[in-house]
Amino acid sequence: MKTAKDLIIPFAWKDRHPILLDRFFYVPGKYEYVKKSFPFFENNQPVFIEYCSGNGQWIGERAKRNPQFNWIAVEKKFDRARTIWLKSHRENLPNLFVACSEGLIFTRYYAPKAEEIFVNFPDPWPKLRHAKHRIIRPEFLSEIYNILKPGGKATCVTDDAKYAEQMAKVFNQSPDWKMLFNMTDLPDYGRSFFNDLWISAGRTIHYLSFERL
Ligand SMILES: C[S@@+](CC[C@H](N)C(=O)[O-])C[C@H]1O[C@@H](n2cnc3c(N)ncnc32)[C@H](O)[C@@H]1O
Repeated sequence: MKTAKDLIIPFAWKDRHPILLDRFFYVPGKYEYVKKSFPFFENNQPVFIEYCSGNGQWIGERAKRNPQFNWIAVEKKFDRARTIWLKSHRENLPNLFVACSEGLIFTRYYAPKAEEIFVNFPDPWPKLRHAKHRIIRPEFLSEIYNILKPGGKATCVTDDAKYAEQMAKVFNQSPDWKMLFNMTDLPDYGRSFFNDLWISAGRTIHYLSFERL
């Protein structure tokens, strides 16, 4: 059984570089990135990516139910990314891979082509002056456009009504995307820590889905 001690980044900060470990890809912060492809999976199964995975509850369930697909959890915080990695080993999910990286950087430099992407409960950065930190912004859309094929989908979920509005606006302002739905109920979508937290607090959940043209 793997434990947290089995996942250690094998170099000091000054020598840092992107590294592929056992089902775990580590992209250091503040690094001069170059485009490079890494062999994340040993098969050619279709790839689905979730950004902002947190502890990986949602993607773990999806990976378990869909072993015919490969799943990549993109989470920038190392301790959370490691929790997902432990889950993938504990639950024997060889089709679940973890990218410990900021989402835009991962997508721009390293992500493989994907069928569909999901962004579940991204940090809302509610203050206007912090809104530039939101992952859903035009630069990020350009990057996911490049890894999806025509017809590929991007689904975003949030409890923050203002962020949901902004998501719709950013996608709808681009000629590259068509909105498929914007709803507040999507049975069987799957659960996550923040999904359960906000539902128990009585918040409305917004589900938005877009097709890459
Ligand atoms: C509110 S939590 C949601 C976690 C999970 N999706 C859930 O529903 O329980 C947001 C997560 O996104 C991660 N995150 C925020 N911005 C990110 C980014 N630009 N790239 C990758 N991860 C990010 C945070 O570290 C945090 O774990």
